[in-house]
Amino acid sequence: MTISNNIPGSVDSGADATSVRSAVHSLRDLTVQAVSELYEKYQDDLRAVRDQQRDFLRQRGKSMKAQLDDYEAEITYLLLREYRPETVVEIGTFYGWSTMWILSALRDNGVGHLYSFDIVDRVVTNVPADLSADRWTFTKGDVRETLGDVVDGADYLFIDADHGARFGRWYVENVFPVVRPGTPTSVHDVFHGRRPKPISEGSVLMKWLVEKNKSFFTPSAAKAPEVIEYLSKTKKELRLDTPVRESRHNPMVFFTL
Ligand SMILES: C[S@@+](CC[C@H](N)C(=O)[O-])C[C@H]1O[C@@H](n2cnc3c(N)ncnc32)[C@H](O)[C@@H]1O
Repeated sequence: MTISNNIPGSVDSGADATSVRSAVHSLRDLTVQAVSELYEKYQDDLRAVRDQQRDFLRQRGKSMKAQLDDYEAEITYLLLREYRPETVVEIGTFYGWSTMWILSALRDNGVGHLYSFDIVDRVVTNVPADLSADRWTFTKGDVRETLGDVVDGADYLFIDADHGARFGRWYVENVFPVVRPGTPTSVHDVFHGRRPKPISEGSVLMKWLVEKNKSFFTPSAAKAPEVIEYLSKTKKELRLDTPVRESRHNPMVFFTL
């Protein structure tokens, strides 16, 4: 298995940074250079979404618990813009921070519907009505019982829920096999360190990626510090460097099924 951040001196990517579109089309070959080009391509819309999210956090204060860090949230937004998915499935909304990033991308695309799942429904009152509009369906309950077959047609899968190994095994064994091969997917809270915690969702996922010989991209500060170093220069040049949130762990991984 390789990680595909493709920075000189970083772990082998196995891929050249070709055009953004071809690189992004197979997340397998997603490189930090391609991500940097996406920042450039969507900079104006991204700037507006960052301002929107920052204002939202400021208004809500401590009553909003945001979980995604800036790089992983922004990369999610940028990939959704580039892929223009019709159907996005989000497992794990909590207070709705990732939900708002995803819905913002669908709004800016002018196409796409988000199906979100969580045991708690705080997200329903948090997400502004003009953002959810007619592009969002939320289902409350244990996703292992409520997911149904919507995921079969997913064009983008986002997972940030239970971080235990049992939950990881559930989706690796029951969800991944029914989703179309090649579907872009991201999973949060994998790399808080150089390796996922033993007996965790992250370790189950990494084992699956190795078995399937799949590479992944991560902006994790612990796993691939060179990625944030590279992208922070891009963001500075584009004047996108004022943080939305201060946290810089970015433990998410991006790959294709
Ligand atoms: C880390 S939080 C999600 C954070 C959110 N993505 C964000 O950006 O703020 C994890 C969420 O997963 C939900 N969750 C955990 N196990 C679940 C299950 N079996 N089915 C549905 N939701 C679950 C929890 O209720 C919690 O809200």
